[in-house]
Amino acid sequence: MFSSMCDGCLMRCLILAAVAMVACADEPVVAEWGLGRPISADEIKPWDIDVRPDGVGLPEGSGTAEAGEAIFQTKCASCHGEFGEGVGRFPPLVWDGTPLTADRPRKTVGNFWPYATTLWDYIYRAMPFGNAQSLTSDEVYALVAYVLAMNDLLDEDTVVDAKTLPKIEMPNREGFIRDTGPDIHASRCMQNCVQEVRIISRASQHRSVDSGE
Ligand code: HEC
Repeated sequence: MFSSMCDGCLMRCLILAAVAMVACADEPVVAEWGLGRPISADEIKPWDIDVRPDGVGLPEGSGTAEAGEAIFQTKCASCHGEFGEGVGRFPPLVWDGTPLTADRPRKTVGNFWPYATTLWDYIYRAMPFGNAQSLTSDEVYALVAYVLAMNDLLDEDTVVDAKTLPKIEMPNREGFIRDTGPDIHASRCMQNCVQEVRIISRASQHRSVDSGE
């Protein structure tokens, strides 16, 4: 049944493939399938918003914590709290002193984030929640400064811009290691392998491994 119904379409497919292969030889990729067109630098620009740890990608503009306070209270405090303490289940932006080594560590901008520049990327990219990418560059710089100042990492009147932001040393700057992997060291079993796979631990149990054989 398969072959009788599809003889015709199989033939069409083969012809199409042959045409595509001929086209492949000297046409650019975009023209090959008759789809799309080359994208211009101007069109890429709105998508190219990433800010790297070293500050590459930071736009022009500047701000201070002093300027950021009013913006924060209007656009951010409803979820993150007047003092960045977090409202309900919305995340706090200020560290409450719970160490990263605690059973339930408190990971915030102040004690966990390794780069101040990431704040710029994150706030512009994703906040305010529900209205992302609506802030101007100056507003974002001011908010970054305000969040840093709430964490006692910056003075109120220090100007934050593309030059100064990458120079701010975050407390947990050295707290990350590069994982060169692999994190599982196992070799593939080719013979006499276990018949039944048994789960002996779960991540949520921390280090407690079921050793009851
Ligand atoms: C409507 C609620 C809401 C508003 C308003 C809001 N946020 Fe958020 N914010 C969130 C939520 C939810 C998350 C967590 C998102 C996630 O983890 O995916 C978050 C996460 C963040 C984080 C990352 C926190 C962390 O440690 O992971 C920062 C920084 C932040 N917001 C800054 C701001 C700033 C600055 C504003 C104001 C311009 C703002 N937010 C406005 C809800 C909100």
